[in-house]
Amino acid sequence: MASDLIAAALAARLKAHAPYSHFLVGAAVRDEYGNVYSGCNVENAAYPQGWCAEPSAISAMIVGGGRRITEVAVVGGGEGLVTPCGGCRQKIREFAAGDVKIHVCGENGEVKHTFTLDELLPAAFGPEHLT
Ligand code: THU
Repeated sequence: MASDLIAAALAARLKAHAPYSHFLVGAAVRDEYGNVYSGCNVENAAYPQGWCAEPSAISAMIVGGGRRITEVAVVGGGEGLVTPCGGCRQKIREFAAGDVKIHVCGENGEVKHTFTLDELLPAAFGPEHLT
């Protein structure tokens, strides 16, 4: 079940540093050992220097010893689907297979839609292209 993943993303979202957009995002990834890592967006007064919630979660996973992403949750507010941005899709791709599920959730943790990575990033370039 994704409930632990979503709970971690919800908690991370509340810690977001988003004083410029006021758009709080939380993300969580599960690794190949079942461990869950979370992160939030961290904005910057020099706007382009801010980063998304997804790379924060991925960074935590790498430090924690995970090397494969097996499931993702993203939590954001508003009416629309807060799907990972293009850059984040590629960052997830580095560690995830195409069939990995990405749960896109509202600010109360409700799953609005579940995508596969292949759906969000078709015909993706990945690390295997370099071998
Ligand atoms: N943001 C994320 O953290 N993840 C997403 O999937 C979409 C966008 C952040 C970046 C920025 O801090 C704020 O949301 C507004 O774009």
